[in-house]
Amino acid sequence: MNSAPLLACQDVTVRFGGVLALDCVNFSARKGAVTSIIGPNGAGKTTLLNAITGLVRVGEGRIAFAGDEITNLPTHKRGQAGVVRTFQNLEVFSNMSVIENVMTGCHRHVQYSVPDCLLKTPRYRREERRCTELAMDKLAFVELTELIQAPSGDLAFGQQRAMELARALASKPELLLLDEPAAGLNMKETKALGKLITRIRDELGVTVVLVEHDMDLVMGISDEIMVLNYGKDLAVGTPLEIQKNPEVIRAYLGEDDGI
Ligand SMILES: Nc1ncnc2c1ncn2[C@@H]1O[C@H](COP(=O)(O)OP(=O)(O)OP(=O)(O)O)[C@@H](O)[C@H]1O
Ligand SMILES: [Mg+2]
Repeated sequence: MNSAPLLACQDVTVRFGGVLALDCVNFSARKGAVTSIIGPNGAGKTTLLNAITGLVRVGEGRIAFAGDEITNLPTHKRGQAGVVRTFQNLEVFSNMSVIENVMTGCHRHVQYSVPDCLLKTPRYRREERRCTELAMDKLAFVELTELIQAPSGDLAFGQQRAMELARALASKPELLLLDEPAAGLNMKETKALGKLITRIRDELGVTVVLVEHDMDLVMGISDEIMVLNYGKDLAVGTPLEIQKNPEVIRAYLGEDDGI
């Protein structure tokens, strides 16, 4: 419990012109835990994920992953190190089949060259087989096996989210960052998503950082929660501690939310 966190953001500041999107934010995620980031619209949640994955430049502060500083590392290098994310808006190639979509997640692991691919060499065929098996395995994990050949555009919204998670898992993350995965899902689909995220933590040992507005989901599956408000870290604690924190209630949860 007291070991160094897998991810540690220290005094991270991000500016967009005159907008101070993150103001000296401290955030850490313990290995093997689900850590959630909550806060009102525009609080800086997506910006923090973007800073962790390298999509925005950090003005001040530092970010460490697995003990190494990654503050200025390019996005693809962070991906290779095991930092993987999904986006707030569903990113699905709807003209591809489900398995093809998930296989795009494997491609940072394949070891063949362009000539291998053009000539369909044994190495290419071996790597494609490995990639197909990995994708099948992740699709089984998210319980989409019977839909692998379906055009992904035909999937229900909740199934597309599961497919997106399978694709992220196919890239073998050590740290998986999810930006509002429950957005647009109905209650039943959200419950299934909560179970899936817990299984990703418990069965695959993947560390999860979850940005989410659905408080039932957040309070139900988080080991720890960080509250962001106007670009500042307002509080850190267990779901129970956060629900009881008067500052958090005032700024975000509200008196009448019944949670
Ligand atoms: N690329 C950008 N250029 C300029 N301002 C930006 C940019 N991205 C975010 N911002 C601003 O930074 C602040 C934080 O935005 P961010 O998208 O991180 O919030 P959020 O907490 O994810 O909100 P939501 O819950 O609505 O997704 C907002 O004021 C937003 O307008
Ligand atoms: Mg956002």
